Amino acid sequence: MRSSCSARCWNSLRQAPKPRFYSGVQQQPPPWRPVSALDEWVERQIRPISLRQLTFFGRTLTEPRLISSANYVRTELPTRLAHRLRDIQQLPYVVVANPHLSLVYELYYKAFERSRVIPEIRSLDDNDRFCDVLREMLKEHLVVIPNLAMGVLECQGLVPPEEMDQFMNTLLRARISRRVIAEQHLALTETFNSPWHFPDSHERTDMNADFIGEVFLKCKAKEVVERCGRVAQDLMRQTSQSTQLPAINVQGHLGATFPYILSHLEYIVGELLRNSVQAVIEKYQNSSQVPPPIDVLICETPQHVILRISDQGGGIPREILPYLWSFSKGPRTQARLENLGQVPAMAATMQELKGSERKHDRAAWHEGSLDSLTSRPPNLRLGMGLPMSRVYAEYWAGSLELHSLEGYGVDAFLQISKLGNKNEQVTTRAAIDAV
Ligand SMILES: Nc1ncnc2c1ncn2[C@@H]1O[C@H](COP(=O)(O)OP(=O)(O)OP(=O)(O)O)[C@@H](O)[C@H]1O
Ligand SMILES: [Mg+2]
Repeated sequence: MRSSCSARCWNSLRQAPKPRFYSGVQQQPPPWRPVSALDEWVERQIRPISLRQLTFFGRTLTEPRLISSANYVRTELPTRLAHRLRDIQQLPYVVVANPHLSLVYELYYKAFERSRVIPEIRSLDDNDRFCDVLREMLKEHLVVIPNLAMGVLECQGLVPPEEMDQFMNTLLRARISRRVIAEQHLALTETFNSPWHFPDSHERTDMNADFIGEVFLKCKAKEVVERCGRVAQDLMRQTSQSTQLPAINVQGHLGATFPYILSHLEYIVGELLRNSVQAVIEKYQNSSQVPPPIDVLICETPQHVILRISDQGGGIPREILPYLWSFSKGPRTQARLENLGQVPAMAATMQELKGSERKHDRAAWHEGSLDSLTSRPPNLRLGMGLPMSRVYAEYWAGSLELHSLEGYGVDAFLQISKLGNKNEQVTTRAAIDAV
């Protein structure tokens, strides 16, 4: 973000804690000395992690490995928060003063102040206390996504939309990154404390051996598509009058399997299928014809797994198409704001979408630690499904593209890096400052 906030604008921002660096020219110390804790932490490099490294701590889960995982998270969280706090500080004052965005800033600042002073973790007791802090922070931050989304929509016109979208993408990706490392550590601690775990054994001995923490080692594309398809159909059945739902056919490399964070993949595939099912139903609602199926093709290459989801729902409406990936503009701003106002907390998982009741698949979902804390009605359109899915896809070095065939349907292409050796894609301040 190039536009920078003047010292004056920070003085007049009442709520947010003001780093000394911004509070007046006279107080500004010599540039070679860090002027605040925040400056000091922004100087630190973020240490990105790959899926493979993420599973490393858990492969032979011993006490020293658990402690070293804890200390990685302990130092990484404030570093990552510091980089994003600086992003927010560099927005123009009118934007930072938005109540939704300043709430996010305050939450981040509080979490930064709290996490940066946690002393080195040396024992399992220290770790238990650390895990309590992590759980509390994750819970407190469930309000971040709806507030960011509302803030960005309300600030439409104050900053060029491309800059606002870049800001939003960076913040959301960073949010995923913090949750990944925190939730992974919580899951490892849970495994370590579980009755079937024997720390002295060199084999992984837990009963759920396909998961290491949050990472599912054998993510089978076909099963994920089928499961998300059933949920998308089920949700649609509860919220629309239609009795005829499109079938979902899966073809191609049905054995494709790879390590991934299951909840991320379920979110992306679930959102794409929800959009497709909805488009087909809307197109065929007054027709006696059987709605055409949604075809999912799975293609496995040495490096990637590619999913192509094709529907015949008539394509993306022309007025929406230019704003498909934007968080900050588009013709439906008012409706999106009203709908977001009804969603106070959001974890951005497929599981939090809840109709009147969930009949299928309850047991088949891997329930993450926070899934029971949030829920949102599936028929409230927030305009978040596609841009958020792309953030998730790109986070593990994948991609998401849509091709709309006007009047016919949509082809969505999701590319996943299969080998798990790609680093998470997190933005550092150095990269932003270099622009
Ligand atoms: N497969 C599709 N066919 C036709 N239109 C689509 C398709 N996918 C998306 N769209 C259009 O793009 C819009 C934006 O989609 P997106 O998933 O980002 O948000 P949403 O579905 O409106 O709300 P949310 O996903 O947050 O509930 C949709 O409202 C719809 O008009
Ligand atoms: Mg959607």
